[in-house]
Amino acid sequence: MKLPSRPQDKIIIALDVPDTDGALRLLDSLGEAPTLCKIGLELFTAEGPSVVKAVQSRGSAVFLDLKFHDIPNTVAHAVNSAAALGVAMTTLHACGGPVMLEAAAKAAEASGNKDLLLLAVTVLTSMDAAQLSATGITIDPEAQVLRLAGLAAEAGIGGIVCSPLEISTVRATFGKKLRLVTPGVRPVWASAGDQKRVMTPAEAVRAGSDWLVIGRPITEAADPKAAYESVVAEIPEG
Ligand code: C5P
Repeated sequence: MKLPSRPQDKIIIALDVPDTDGALRLLDSLGEAPTLCKIGLELFTAEGPSVVKAVQSRGSAVFLDLKFHDIPNTVAHAVNSAAALGVAMTTLHACGGPVMLEAAAKAAEASGNKDLLLLAVTVLTSMDAAQLSATGITIDPEAQVLRLAGLAAEAGIGGIVCSPLEISTVRATFGKKLRLVTPGVRPVWASAGDQKRVMTPAEAVRAGSDWLVIGRPITEAADPKAAYESVVAEIPEG
C-alpha cells in the first residue's frame, strides 16, 4: 500500500459500531468519505463481508482488523479471504511465530490483492508487565514489542500496529522497513477516554507514524464532520 501524503489520507476512522446501519450513519455524518475506515471484530462478527462491501461502495478503503492468530495454514487461508474482499490492510498477531507470519506474507503476495498491507500486532496495549508475565513472558514489554516487530520484519510483514509512545524506538531499530499504524491518538481538544498513553495527531505523525487510527474523538463528537476536519487540520503536510 502506498504511503499517504495528504493529511486526510493518514487518518483511519475506527467504525466501532455494532451494525451496518450504524456504520453508514457514521459515514453520512462525516460528509466526504474518509480515505480509510477500520472494521473490527464487533462489526465484522455481526455483519460479515457485506459490511466491508457497504463501506467500500461509499468510497472508503477498508482496514479489516481481525487480528488473526492460528496455525500457519489457517492464517494463510484467512489472509487469502481478506485479500479477496479487496481490503487495504489486515492484522495478525506477531506472537503467532515466524512460520505463521511467513505463511501470511506469502499468502498476501500470492493473492490477487497486491496492495494488501499486512500489519502485525506486537503487544496489545492492554497487556502490562504483570499480564505478560502471567502468560510466561517475563521480559520487559518494550523489549517484547521490538522482538515481535523484528519477527514481523524478517517474515516480510509490511508493518505493525503500535502505541504512539513506541514509534521512536521502533523507527530507531527498523528505520523505514516497517509501516507504522498507531491508535491511542487524541487531538488536544479531546478527552483521552480509556486510552492512557496518548499523543496528539501532529505529535504522532512527527514521531514517524504513517497512519493514525482515530475513533471516539471523531465518532462521538457532537459534530463528527467538524471534529474530523479539525483533526485533518492538525496533521502536518508531506
Ligand atoms: O476510540 P479510539 O480512538 O480510542 O479508538 C481506537 C481504535 O483503535 C479502537 O478501534 C481500538 O480497538 C483500536 N486499538 C487501540 N489500541 C490498540 C489496538 C487497537 O485502541 N492497542
